[in-house]
Amino acid sequence: MLDPELFRTLAQAGHKAASPDNLQAWRFEAVDGALHVHLPREGRLPTDVDDMFSLIGIGCAVENIVVAASAQGHTASVTVDRQPSAHGERIAIVTFAEGGEKDPLADVIDRRCTNRKPYATERMADDVAGRLESAAAAVGARVDLLHEDGERDRVGSLIADNDWIRMSHQPLHAELFDIFRLSAAEADRGDGLDLASLELPGAAGLFLRLVGKWPVARVLNAIGLAKGFAKGSGDAARASAAVGLITADTPDTAGYVASGRALQRIWLQAAADGMAMQPIGGLAQYLTKVEREPEGFLPEQAAHLRTLKDPFYALFPAAKDRTLGILFRVGVESGPPLGRSRRRPLDTVLVS
Ligand SMILES: Cc1cc2nc3c(=O)[nH]c(=O)nc-3n(C[C@H](O)[C@H](O)[C@H](O)COP(=O)(O)O)c2cc1C
Repeated sequence: MLDPELFRTLAQAGHKAASPDNLQAWRFEAVDGALHVHLPREGRLPTDVDDMFSLIGIGCAVENIVVAASAQGHTASVTVDRQPSAHGERIAIVTFAEGGEKDPLADVIDRRCTNRKPYATERMADDVAGRLESAAAAVGARVDLLHEDGERDRVGSLIADNDWIRMSHQPLHAELFDIFRLSAAEADRGDGLDLASLELPGAAGLFLRLVGKWPVARVLNAIGLAKGFAKGSGDAARASAAVGLITADTPDTAGYVASGRALQRIWLQAAADGMAMQPIGGLAQYLTKVEREPEGFLPEQAAHLRTLKDPFYALFPAAKDRTLGILFRVGVESGPPLGRSRRRPLDTVLVS
């Protein structure tokens, strides 16, 4: 039997992980001596493709659990075994053996957070980059880092050229505005993206409430609203030391969980090395979705997304034979985030 206090400590660490749009789509259950991680029905993004983002989020939680277990004197082993369960789908089983060394990354679990401010653009030292690459390899994934100004410029353009689509198609727009928490009362729900974590002042809530109405967004898109939003994402990629792409060996549940574990582990390593990070989810997700579910886009959007593939793979040639996970940017922060994302109470994600 897993000690109840240890279970709570490890579940708490899992709950501190990154998740797509801060939806915290995970449930933790103690089963005999193991910790099961479930993907619940609620909290999945309706426009995700094959639960890619949700599974990456589960991988982030799993990695935090593994790292935290080491600080409690346990060596954790992870088995990905996706099965329907009473709590949605069980995705991973984490088992524990006594002993093993403490992973120093356990000390930065609390410090890691998304920072959406600009970062310094100075190139990171080779040993720092090497540690980020090793972090991905340690969990069976791979990261490719773009360090040169010209490369970050090119990937920034691709990101901007992708992200306007999220504002320009009604189902994608609806999903985006569903996860924004535009007032203090909405933020009190403890999930989703509040204004401060998005680096926005409180007054921005009024504007976002307006463009959250699809007819308004559609009119404003005609005069450049969506492209304006997306330009910000591209500029953020430029305002960094490097942009990384995480890829996995296989296009299945295990591959996406590995990408998530890599994202979290790289992020902890970056934090330990004094750097900030921000995932940039849209591009890898839409390049995947346009292949598997092109009907999720308008025909002209699908055609446009296909034109991004060649320049994308020119930047990341090793990704051609691998499974796309997620992009991120990393660098020394220009300041702490205006606000950190909240969490729902721990008990809401525990299965008793
Ligand atoms: C699969 C995935 C995709 C994400 N995509 C983005 C993104 O496109 N842009 C962004 O700013 N943050 C992105 N995030 C970061 C989450 O919004 C963030 O982890 C969540 O709000 C919790 O906040 P925290 O990381 O500060 O704990 C992503 C995270 C995950 C796991």
